[in-house]
Amino acid sequence: IMIRTDDHAKIEELAEYASVPVINGLTDLSHPCQIVADLLTIVEGGKALPGLELAWLGDGNNVLASLIEAAGLFGFNVRAGVPQGYDPDMRFVEAARAQGARIDIVRDAAEAVAGADIVVTDTWVSMGQTHAEDKLRAMEPFRIDAPLMGVAKSDALFLHCLPAHVGDEVSEEVFEGSQSVVFDEAENRIHAQKSILRWCFGQI
Ligand code: NVA
Repeated sequence: IMIRTDDHAKIEELAEYASVPVINGLTDLSHPCQIVADLLTIVEGGKALPGLELAWLGDGNNVLASLIEAAGLFGFNVRAGVPQGYDPDMRFVEAARAQGARIDIVRDAAEAVAGADIVVTDTWVSMGQTHAEDKLRAMEPFRIDAPLMGVAKSDALFLHCLPAHVGDEVSEEVFEGSQSVVFDEAENRIHAQKSILRWCFGQI
């Protein structure tokens, strides 16, 4: 069973009663299926996961939580530039740190992106959330534009799980630019999700 829902407690309850594997297709807490596709995209882009420096900009949401979880599992580092009040769930941060990943939460966008191999963002307003003017204002300094991308490594890749609000969390120049792998990332969802099904069926 794949479930895509809001409250994470719903998936926990479903898994408790299900006699077959339950796949988290997204909850307000985490989005692991997306991150399997993201990691495939990063590796396809020629980068090794151990020691990778990944920068996140914007909302400390479900996608960031799963990236942090992956950092602990695969040994890469995350520097998240998020405004005060929008930090990721600290349970993910603490678990990844305990596994040896370096997880930094910073308040400055350039500090987050400096020297990064991978730059990632997501919509400032997730599914089920209401558009809040104060949240959007807080996110403004964390928009990824070309000058900000310029402080990452010169061969850094830009990822976004889509759908994007071009002009908000990312400028059109970066979204459509040569460092953007967002459409490979979108395609990789189907390949990565097939691997999850094979794992559920005990084939890998
Ligand atoms: N954070 C976003 C991800 C969409 C794929 C959301 O939960 O809406």
